[in-house]
Amino acid sequence: MNQMRDELLDLARRASAKAYAPYSGFHVGAALQFADGSQLAAGNVENASYGLTLCAETVAAGSAMQGGLGSPLVAVAIHGGRPGADGIAIAAGAPVTPCGRCRQMLEEMASQGGTDPLVWCAGESEILELRLSELLPYAFRKDNLDG
Ligand code: THU
Repeated sequence: MNQMRDELLDLARRASAKAYAPYSGFHVGAALQFADGSQLAAGNVENASYGLTLCAETVAAGSAMQGGLGSPLVAVAIHGGRPGADGIAIAAGAPVTPCGRCRQMLEEMASQGGTDPLVWCAGESEILELRLSELLPYAFRKDNLDG
């Protein structure tokens, strides 16, 4: 598990270099781990119309769901901070946790595969490990629309 955590966090760290964040200057990378071993990572995408900004987790979730989501989501890693010369974020002081919208985006993907993924959030000197259900209790799901 620690190996998976370290690998996924490293993937998220490297994905932070893909961020397009000229407005906040805050680069975030999010990496997704699926049960079949596949992984996908993305960076945040900002916009001159600030409110249209897409967080890294949302870009990753959207990309994964474009592919039809063949496998359950087992873990998510997030790494963010100000970029170094190579564009890779130097981890911010406090662990970067997903915003409310991203929690809901991840929940949609997780519920498709019936999992409660681990979410690893990198900080300068600590890694926060939480279940998605701890970050988003009483989630609104597809089931809510059916009944
Ligand atoms: N951001 C993410 O991409 N993920 C998070 O978990 C927190 C915030 C982005 C949004 C915006 O581009 C920048 O970080 C500053 O909020």
